[in-house]
Amino acid sequence: MKIVELDAVSKAYHTGAALDNVSLEIAAGERIVILGPSGCGKTTILRLIAGFIAPDTGSISLGGELVAKDGSIIKPPGQRNLGMVFQDLALWPHLSVKGNIEFGLKAKGLPADARARRIRQVLDLVGMSDFAGRKPAELSGGQQQRVALARSLALEPRVLLMDEPLSSLDQELNVRLRREILRLQETLGFTLLYVTHDRDEAADIATRVITMSRGKVLAK
Ligand SMILES: Nc1ncnc2c1ncn2[C@@H]1O[C@H](COP(=O)(O)OP(=O)(O)O)[C@@H](O)[C@H]1O
Ligand SMILES: [Mg+2]
Repeated sequence: MKIVELDAVSKAYHTGAALDNVSLEIAAGERIVILGPSGCGKTTILRLIAGFIAPDTGSISLGGELVAKDGSIIKPPGQRNLGMVFQDLALWPHLSVKGNIEFGLKAKGLPADARARRIRQVLDLVGMSDFAGRKPAELSGGQQQRVALARSLALEPRVLLMDEPLSSLDQELNVRLRREILRLQETLGFTLLYVTHDRDEAADIATRVITMSRGKVLAK
């Protein structure tokens, strides 16, 4: 069964067409990288899958279930069980590292002891156990990305969506965190959908690269 399916999806903003008749299928456990230059529609695909926007035409299914079709959202973001690490989806500045991770767990209704256990687990996974009490402003960019990753993984998503998560980091840290993302994916087995404009990153991370240009999928 396909865990993510886009069938003939088109999407335009007032600025013009962003996606033109895009179809793609992703199987559980794949590490897909969507590669293409700035403006080609990569973020739009992730926002459609996450449920922040609806396709103008075409349909989107997750785990075989229809979640959006022809201008309508059938399942809102909160019901899609996806994790997201977006470039511009910042941590809550007023909450500690622990508070940031706990936020989604509370919303999900997890009791306090289960929340504490899950927070310990994910901080350990990303190597941030010593930083639970820090505020985001007291962390480096790489540490903030680790926390964002931990926050997503804590919710045990079936698919993790990552939008250029490492592009603001220097090369050395970028390569190090790539390794960690790979290790986490291999350990936990989630499906990864990772967007980048960097060929190196794509080759390193993907089990399959989907190439895009100007709103169209070129190769998959
Ligand atoms: N909210 C928006 N309003 C208007 N135009 C947008 C919006 N978001 C994206 N676009 C336009 O849609 C196209 C695709 O954008 P995007 O999906 O963000 O590309 P990428 O992530 O590959 O850089 C671009 O031409 C962009 O300018
Ligand atoms: Mg983008």
